[in-house]
Amino acid sequence: MMGHAGMQGFLDEEHRGTVLRSLRADQGTLCRDYLAAADEVLHALVAVPDLVQRLPLVRKPGGYARNLLAGDDAVSVWAMVWAEGAVTSIHDHHCSCCFGVVSGTVTETWYRAIDAKRAVATDERDRAAGYVACMLPSGPNIHRMRNLGPGEAISIHIYGFDHETHSSSIETEYTAVSG
Ligand SMILES: [Fe+2]
Repeated sequence: MMGHAGMQGFLDEEHRGTVLRSLRADQGTLCRDYLAAADEVLHALVAVPDLVQRLPLVRKPGGYARNLLAGDDAVSVWAMVWAEGAVTSIHDHHCSCCFGVVSGTVTETWYRAIDAKRAVATDERDRAAGYVACMLPSGPNIHRMRNLGPGEAISIHIYGFDHETHSSSIETEYTAVSG
């Protein structure tokens, strides 16, 4: 497993420290103060898209690539680069999940579970550049994200998990069925 320093080459140490301190995760990553701080950090980042766009982010043709920007034992901050056509599984999260769209548009589809493995789509929204949202693992939060284009999209995701002990924020993956 790569250490913090090896993976977090996008921001210098000072900026990583600033981001992590701003998130105020010392009281956990489910409480109101943390979510308000994450919301504030995301609004600040999506307001200056150039800052994120000029980072040497990894891309994955036809898919989405995760780039760890900052992380500690409570929280991790990722830049996701979505190629046109990229799509996630239908999933929910074991931790709080906040995201903001830096550029392009990410289409988010929401689902309702009908059993432990199957879910029915209930809503779909285009999330344009500037959009910020936070969700808790306790809420109804089964969703799928994709980039219908045109072109690439970039989003920032802040998860309440330690990237060195969890490989991702995903709790359960579902198969879509028609209602
Ligand atoms: Fe998600």
